[in-house]
Amino acid sequence: MKNCVGQVVRGDDFWNRLHELASIWDAVLNGSHVLLVAPRRVGKTSIMRHMQDNPKEGYIIVYIDTESADSENEFWHKLFNALMEEEFIGRVKKYTQKFEHILEEINIKNISTKGVTFGDDTTVDYATAFEKLIKGLDNEIKLIIMIDEFAQTVENIIKYEDEKSAESFLRTHRALRQNTTLSKQVTFIYAGSIGLESVVSKTGATKLINDLNSIKVKPLTHKDAVAFTKLLAKSVSIDISGDVIKELLKEIEWFIPFYIQLLIQELKTLSREQGTKTIESKMIKEAMAMAISHQNLFANWRSKLKDGFKKKGYLYAKEILNIISEEDTLSSLQIQNIASKHKLDEDYAKEIIHSLEYDGYINNNDDVKEYRFNSPLLKQWWYKNVAN
Ligand SMILES: Nc1ncnc2c1ncn2[C@@H]1O[C@H](COP(=O)(O)OP(=O)(O)OP(=O)(O)O)[C@@H](O)[C@H]1O
Ligand SMILES: [Mg+2]
Repeated sequence: MKNCVGQVVRGDDFWNRLHELASIWDAVLNGSHVLLVAPRRVGKTSIMRHMQDNPKEGYIIVYIDTESADSENEFWHKLFNALMEEEFIGRVKKYTQKFEHILEEINIKNISTKGVTFGDDTTVDYATAFEKLIKGLDNEIKLIIMIDEFAQTVENIIKYEDEKSAESFLRTHRALRQNTTLSKQVTFIYAGSIGLESVVSKTGATKLINDLNSIKVKPLTHKDAVAFTKLLAKSVSIDISGDVIKELLKEIEWFIPFYIQLLIQELKTLSREQGTKTIESKMIKEAMAMAISHQNLFANWRSKLKDGFKKKGYLYAKEILNIISEEDTLSSLQIQNIASKHKLDEDYAKEIIHSLEYDGYINNNDDVKEYRFNSPLLKQWWYKNVAN
């Protein structure tokens, strides 16, 4: 295992997330379509890539990232291109000898804004073309289509087109999922670094995604975090005792693989600078300070808020986070007072707090009436770079 900081991990660098993988496969085998739910950087994409690289017998997995799709057309373009890619075709060929023939029948000549044109010169809309393509595949092939950054596409459509178009896009997806013939062969897994539920609720169309089986990707357990830290330390050749690992994890608090990787990287740098292989507890604080100096790793926690909310909402969220970064906690009552100061509608203000929880900024797990940052690293970064 290498210490890959920031990149999606594949192969041996993936720390096996047995529970999440088991839950996702259970849902797929039971015929559900899945929404992977987790805040930013928790490891959704890595889990999807791992599934794609290690599919269960009989399944072919297609992965697309639709973050840059700003319209329904662009979305479908991406999906059809992935289905026409050699890698995918190669995987299908493994399952069926009849594939050449099938491919001839479903031969796609052109993908344009009008839809998809097949070999017989018929042009149909994307959803119909998708259905045709799937029906043309052999019954023994089961497809899983993973759509990463789906919520971003919905948000882009709201921004660059309008809410109506976004609703129609969501409706088409729901219709595909509810199509019983299609569902026998295709499972959709949606994920993204912004919450689909909060984006969809802006269009008032929550019912269009309530059929999805949502599966949470949680941070690592303490036990897993210890084992993961040990492996990473070994891979970068530093010595770190069990007690120091415990102290390190106490500081990290929110055990997502990414923050552990980041701290191991900084501890390695310190160990090099200080000419010692052994990590001592006094190096931890310094490593934390070094970690938050990487602006590129944290800055989009701020920009995502700016992009995701209207100005009033952003200013409200920013003030809440500023105060929590300074005072550690903030009570629900104080939060309500700040909402009135910002003259925000009560429901809208609640929605913003919900998004902050959902997107991984804050939680009220210890006490329902009190909010705090999930991650001390983000808290410290926010305090230094946004609040002051
Ligand atoms: N199972 C894992 N094993 C090792 N490292 C992981 C694992 N999951 C995530 N990581 C690390 O965490 C970071 C983020 O992973 P990934 O991109 O998969 O998360 P994400 O939830 O898709 O993030 P985003 O919301 O930004 O898209 C990467 O540095 C990756 O190396
Ligand atoms: Mg991702």
